[in-house]
Amino acid sequence: MAAPKKLRTMFGADDELQAFAEHWLSGPGCLSGASSLAHTDGAMVACLYRDSTFQVELCCVPPGFVIPDHVHPHADTIEVPVAGVLRLHVNGKDVYAGRCDERVQRLNRGSGIRINHTDVHGTAAPVGETGAMFLSIQKWLGCEPLSVLTDYLGRPLGEGHQEMLDAANL
Ligand SMILES: [Fe+2]
Repeated sequence: MAAPKKLRTMFGADDELQAFAEHWLSGPGCLSGASSLAHTDGAMVACLYRDSTFQVELCCVPPGFVIPDHVHPHADTIEVPVAGVLRLHVNGKDVYAGRCDERVQRLNRGSGIRINHTDVHGTAAPVGETGAMFLSIQKWLGCEPLSVLTDYLGRPLGEGHQEMLDAANL
């Protein structure tokens, strides 16, 4: 079997999560475990893969969407943009500050951004006119995988999301 393709990851680490991300992205059957879809307040999150430690979700947000600052307290993640322009804000820093949308898309192509479970993140600007999709490749810490929609501390995406968080009671 061929070695997994290297994934260039901003803030990345040479660890199990990076190795899983490269392995999963290189596999011919990476979508064969797709199982469930959750949506709220215009955002959709589809589970593409889940085992007892690792999970991959496809997150889709519409044009103009704003993701408030938040953390996922039980998951380290690598976010891999798939389409659209998503300008991330990580620990108070706009990671693409000063770069035009075209440059952000070029930088994003085939690369990832590491966001650990203590990293406060959200969008630095509303999502562009085509909306945005990104893979969230996750390693779960001390519990079985949940959705990043419910393992979420911060201002919710909207009323529906608040109800989802209340029901999850985390
Ligand atoms: Fe997040």
